[in-house]
Amino acid sequence: MATTFEDAWSVARDVDGWLLESQGRALFEAAQRVPQGTVAVEIGSHRGKSAVLIAMGLPEGVRLTAVDPFDDPRWGGGPESLDMFRANLEKAGVLDRVDLFRGLSEEASAQWTGLPVGFLWVDGAHDIESTLKDFDGWMPHLSKGAELYVHDAFSAVGTTRAILKRFWFSPTVQYTGCARTLVKFRVQPLTLSQRISSFFGITSRLPFFLRMVAIKVSRRRGLHGLERRFMTVDNEPLI
Ligand SMILES: C[S@@+](CC[C@H](N)C(=O)[O-])C[C@H]1O[C@@H](n2cnc3c(N)ncnc32)[C@H](O)[C@@H]1O
Repeated sequence: MATTFEDAWSVARDVDGWLLESQGRALFEAAQRVPQGTVAVEIGSHRGKSAVLIAMGLPEGVRLTAVDPFDDPRWGGGPESLDMFRANLEKAGVLDRVDLFRGLSEEASAQWTGLPVGFLWVDGAHDIESTLKDFDGWMPHLSKGAELYVHDAFSAVGTTRAILKRFWFSPTVQYTGCARTLVKFRVQPLTLSQRISSFFGITSRLPFFLRMVAIKVSRRRGLHGLERRFMTVDNEPLI
C-alpha cells in the first residue's frame, strides 16, 4: 500500500524541528512529484524531521541526499543530532533511501557529480551569505522544471534578502506559492507574463515579512502584548 502523508507525519511530528504540519505536507507532496532520473537534495537536516517526510514521499527508486555538517551550535548540532537523524530515518524505514553528505552545502554543491536535482529543499543557515551560496551553488545542478522550496522565507531577514536579490524578477525562477514561511519556486525558462506574475507573487509576501519583523522587534524589546497580537492569523500560530 502506498505511503500517505498521514503515515509520514505520524513519524515526523515527534521529531524535534521547526516545521508546521502544512509545511510537512507541502514537502511530502513535492517529494511525490520528483521525476525518475533525478534526486532530491536537502540542505539542513538537523534531526531528520523534513528528511523523513521527503524520503517517505519519494517515488520508488528516487533518492534523497541530505547535506548537513551536524556541528552547528545554533541548532544544537553535534554527534547526537547525527545519531538522532539516523535513528529517525531508521524508525521511518527510509534509511536506505538517503545519502548523507556531512559538510556544508557549498562543499556539497562544488563536488556534486550525481544525477540532476529534481527537488531542492533549502533549510540550512538563514543568513544572506549562506543562502546565496545555497542558491548559486545548486542552481547549475537543477533539472529543467525542478522544484525549489525554501524555509524561513519572508521570516528570516537573510533568507528573504537572498530571495529578493536572486528571484524577484528572475528569468528562470518562478514563485508558485507558499505554506506560511515555506516558499515554493519552479526553475525553468519563464515567459514575460510568468516573470511578471512571479514578481507580484513574491511582492505579495512582503506584508507578511513586515509582520514577522514586527514580531521579532517586539520580542527583543520585551513588548509581549504586541508580539502576541502579531503572532496569530485565524487563531493559528504564524510560524
Ligand atoms: C533549521 S535546521 C534544519 C531543520 C530540518 N530541515 C528539520 O526539518 O528539522 C538548520 C540545519 O542546517 C544546518 N546547516 C547550517 N549551515 C549549513 C550549511 N551551510 N550547509 C548545510 N547545512 C547547514 C545546521 O547544522 C542545522 O542542522
